[in-house]
Amino acid sequence: MPSLMRVLLFVSLLFCPIPVLSSSGPEDKESNLHIRPRTDLPPGYSSPDYYPTPNGGWVSEWADAYAKAQKVVSQMTLAEKVNITSGTGYFMGPCVGNTGSALRFGIPNLCLQDGPLGIRNTDHNTAFPAGITTGATFDKELMYARGVALGQEARGKGINVQMGPVVGPLGRKPRSGRIWEGFGADPSLQAIGAAKTIQGMQSVGVIATLKHFIGNEQEMYRMTDVFQQGYSSNIDDRTLHEIYLWPFAEGVRAGVGSVMAAYNDVNGTACTQNSKLLNDLLKDELGFQGFVVSDWYAQIGGVSSALAGLDMAMPGDGAVPLLGDSFWNYELSTAILNGTVPVERLNDMATRIVATWYKMGQDKEYPLPNFSTNTQDATGPLYPGALFSPTGVVNQFVNVQADHNVVARAVARDAITLLKNVDNTLPLKRNASLKIFGADAGPNPDGLNSCSDQGCDKGVLTMGWGSGSARLPYLITPQDAIRNVSSNAQFYISDSFPSGISAGPNDIAVVFINADSGENYITVEGNPGDRLVAGLYSWHNGDELVQAAAKKFSTVVVVVHTVGPIILENWIDLPSVKAVLFAHLPGQEAGDSLVDVLFGDYSPSGHLPYTIPYKESDYPASVSLIDQPFGQIQDTYTERIYIDYRHFLQANITPRYPFGHGLSYTTFNFSEASLSTITPLTQYPPSRPPKGPTPTYNNTIPPASEVAWPKDFNRIWRYLYPYLDNPEAATSTAPYPYPTGYTTTPQPPPRAGGSQGGNPALWDVAFNVSVKVSNTGSRPGRAVAQLYVELPASTLGVDLPPLQLRQFEKTAILPPGGSQVLTLSVTRKDLSIWDVVAQDWKAPVNGQGVKFWIGESVADLKVVCEVGGQCRRV
Ligand code: NOJ
Repeated sequence: MPSLMRVLLFVSLLFCPIPVLSSSGPEDKESNLHIRPRTDLPPGYSSPDYYPTPNGGWVSEWADAYAKAQKVVSQMTLAEKVNITSGTGYFMGPCVGNTGSALRFGIPNLCLQDGPLGIRNTDHNTAFPAGITTGATFDKELMYARGVALGQEARGKGINVQMGPVVGPLGRKPRSGRIWEGFGADPSLQAIGAAKTIQGMQSVGVIATLKHFIGNEQEMYRMTDVFQQGYSSNIDDRTLHEIYLWPFAEGVRAGVGSVMAAYNDVNGTACTQNSKLLNDLLKDELGFQGFVVSDWYAQIGGVSSALAGLDMAMPGDGAVPLLGDSFWNYELSTAILNGTVPVERLNDMATRIVATWYKMGQDKEYPLPNFSTNTQDATGPLYPGALFSPTGVVNQFVNVQADHNVVARAVARDAITLLKNVDNTLPLKRNASLKIFGADAGPNPDGLNSCSDQGCDKGVLTMGWGSGSARLPYLITPQDAIRNVSSNAQFYISDSFPSGISAGPNDIAVVFINADSGENYITVEGNPGDRLVAGLYSWHNGDELVQAAAKKFSTVVVVVHTVGPIILENWIDLPSVKAVLFAHLPGQEAGDSLVDVLFGDYSPSGHLPYTIPYKESDYPASVSLIDQPFGQIQDTYTERIYIDYRHFLQANITPRYPFGHGLSYTTFNFSEASLSTITPLTQYPPSRPPKGPTPTYNNTIPPASEVAWPKDFNRIWRYLYPYLDNPEAATSTAPYPYPTGYTTTPQPPPRAGGSQGGNPALWDVAFNVSVKVSNTGSRPGRAVAQLYVELPASTLGVDLPPLQLRQFEKTAILPPGGSQVLTLSVTRKDLSIWDVVAQDWKAPVNGQGVKFWIGESVADLKVVCEVGGQCRRV
């Protein structure tokens, strides 16, 4: 069903007097639409039960925070515990998500706010470059610095939980709408980008949210609604571990405070109530100590989600928003009182949230929200979701920008990726005669931020659309920035090539084109988030604009702002197309960062965070979008571990530009490579450490009076509360159809676990590879050393991609003749495959047969080191 129709139906449902589900017990809702047999799954895919949820607190780094949390939670009433786990309802507070509070202990309504590139829907903020741009820098320091700045802005606005970074989608589907929110189509690039961002954000006390867990690889049909069940991403165990879980593991290892459960199903079970994913993989194997929050309306069952490991429900409403209906809140109170959800589970849910709050130091002078995601006005309703809401000051317009424009510009600049530069066309001379074409060089003619959540493609493309966007506080367009440095540029800010234009022999045409995408709740020019109708082509006839310019001008430079790969074949080989820059999604500093590179103040140093193919059919068919309006989509990952360059290498398909490609205005030489063994490798890691203790509580069912309405309580209509009108009535035990396989006996600790991220021995550095990088050209520049491992498939007994990125390092700006030694550390895990039988990571003993390739792209390898052999130039 087209999404507009769904929205209309949804809205009509909102305002139709449909019966509110009775609150006689959670079982009514569970049986309503949410427990369905997994009939459609292809053979071989399943999501086994894994109960109960492992309690948090057993990792030593979190021990202090858990001790503090235990003190508080042991004193909390049932109402307080339920309050902090459940959202107060859509539009029921200043932030996109708001929990209830526990003010006796100083715990306010927690503010959860998007998003991954800056604060959504606010003012006086920075609109940073997107994740994909950050990935393209291949620069760990910039990734961290951007994370710190993101965190500082969130803290400054009083945001407790900022919802980013994104590592799912990972980039399996090139047309997928939100691949620009993450760092690139490779697990290690995603992992490093996310870990650095998390460390940066959390260093200033903000709780980061790693999302979307997991398999959320396309936008269309992601959600289960009254019309259709969200698609099922069917992923085998090895692929899950080696590709999609990998960046989550690294994020957990970095100490991330929360993880967002995705909308879709995985192997037939919704992520929010998938005990295999949440209880087993995330909380046991990866040792995640924070809390799991649902994506908005991704929760589809109350008891089922609690038992499967969900800790916080957002925004708190049931299946239909704004009816005062919930799966948790008062329903969770009922489920505790009648014994359906064990008190132990609720204690763990509350403890995980409070411990995370302490862990980030939010008990100490943390600001309350001073903005509203709902309006730009200074005053207004405090709870716009309520018909009759108290009003007050909702926006204090606090400026949190500081000097973050500096890091925003540095990221945008150092991400710019030079794909082609014939005859040293770039950099441009400042006095060159320039003709600038394309609406993408200019402003949005309707005004800055005129499209809600950036849901349009007008003017320079600075980011995609949806919840992952931010309002631009200002925008320096390429047009502004070029005008600032050149007095010899003429602008044709249109997507149609002007007729009658004359081109002198020394004129250079600079053509701006773009490709947009975003989140599914907004459709832009026929694209429902995913690039459904645009395909992998530039928007607004960008190819024709380039072709027209190439006909007239003998020198054409193409600048591309894009969410992901596009097909370049309509113009890339035209003789006058001399240079091509991918500027990705640069955020507010679009113009200045581009000009820095265009005119040669800086050499480009970005690299492609994905492959650009010759044609879309070069990808495996299984990574196409699936557009199936009825019935549950079975999206089966039959390409397995072979996505992006892994596929191109395996299938021996030459791409137009390989993963990691990016030229410079100078050239680099890689020499004096050396390999040192740091930790000898056994086949499997040493045994995991045992779990530490977790908080203990009195887990008896509390008195029903704890969820009675407080005296003289001023209720807000449709606001979601933990209270019950008749608490005593809730105590009678309801027959509840527990998930099959439900048990209260803890599972034996998984062999691959042991601490945050997994067995800590997985992060033992096995080898260091050092290489000297020298600038052999005539301009200053930065080089990236990308390290790809070639693993001995036969020793490991599995099929493997020929090369896999595992590490990268970037030099400082090297002057001509300058050099720097880079050392790249490779861990045990980097050299391991997931052994599905042993359920553990298996490495080649002592790294026998491993080769380390270092180069400037996956197809431009400069040196290789063999374990037990020599390093040599290639
Ligand atoms: C849905 C999106 O998928 C998620 O990324 C976002 O954080 C929430 N909406 C809240 O806006």
